[in-house]
Amino acid sequence: MNCSFSKSKDVEADEDALAAFSPPKLLDEVKEKVLSFVQLQLSRKRKVVVVTSGGTAVPLEHKTVRFIDNFSTGTRGSAAAEYFLQAGYAVIFIHRRKTLMPFRRHLDKNGSKGLTILDMFQLHPESDGSQTLRVDQTQIPQLSSVLTAYQSVKDQEMLLCIEFITLCDYLHYLKVAAEAIHPLGRSAMVFLAAAVADFYVPGYALPEHKIQSANGPPVIHLRQVPKMLGNVAQQWAEVAFVVSFKLETDHSLLVKKAREALVKYKHQVVIANLLESRRTKLEVITVEDHCTLILSEEELNKGGEVEEKLVADLIQRHEQVFRVTWN
Ligand code: PMT
Repeated sequence: MNCSFSKSKDVEADEDALAAFSPPKLLDEVKEKVLSFVQLQLSRKRKVVVVTSGGTAVPLEHKTVRFIDNFSTGTRGSAAAEYFLQAGYAVIFIHRRKTLMPFRRHLDKNGSKGLTILDMFQLHPESDGSQTLRVDQTQIPQLSSVLTAYQSVKDQEMLLCIEFITLCDYLHYLKVAAEAIHPLGRSAMVFLAAAVADFYVPGYALPEHKIQSANGPPVIHLRQVPKMLGNVAQQWAEVAFVVSFKLETDHSLLVKKAREALVKYKHQVVIANLLESRRTKLEVITVEDHCTLILSEEELNKGGEVEEKLVADLIQRHEQVFRVTWN
């Protein structure tokens, strides 16, 4: 695969951006897994996408009882990961523990539309007094499509899941994955759907033990988390096709801020979404282009997902912008 690129000098990617964040215990193990996964995908000539998903927790104590968190459920990341896999991309899925996972998410749904694992099985009494566990026959069509897709991905070793909880874990794993995909050149993509904390309490300022309520409400000084998007796009994964997200609650800021990010970090695409309409409306913003992806009410009622449209759009852009041909 041929690729040439020039590193932008406009954004200073901070070489020491992670210095303030202590590395997770599993960092070496995760790095090894990611590197060997990338080697495998290279040998199979597959495109690879790093998908980040879920929110990062910011601990308020060393022995953590309390932390600052956010709303993210991992719906965007887990759904997009499935559509990338369907399209033949291998996926490094960096996700917050206990948020939604590709395939498994179909078994976690509440309400009438989805399956829950408890509804799928039935206990049948046998004549000898024992009980047999059977799969509810009415669930088989839905279950079999999820299982077929999952098993195919598993057999072909196309999915690597890396779990994080805290902001520190997330930042280190993102760096490891973004650097690891370098040998894939332009056939790699980074899809930054995680909701990353903007503020944190530095390690030196954290109390060791649980904050005591008897001492009254604590005053907590938060520090700004450096934006890692510059590091990803200009340094760690400088050759890859980088897609970031911009989330706002005020519509008047959304497109403006998405455009600013694009200009500042010089990556390929920003997906802008508003909190309240994030399941049905996404703005795809590039330097030359701005289009809106909408999931209609009818599509939504039929179980459609805006991530299917988004992934199809991004794959097309990845091919067009980078003009890479692959198997
Ligand atoms: O998980 P769901 O419930 O499905 O919700 C999906 C989503 C709304 C979380 C997702 O669509 C989304 O918008 N994710 C990005 C949210 C976010 O962090 O937005 P932001 O405007 O704060 O940050 C913009 C970009 O900067 C993000 O791509 C983020 O990866 C990056 N960032 C953020 C903070 C930081 N310290 N460094 C960063 O690089």
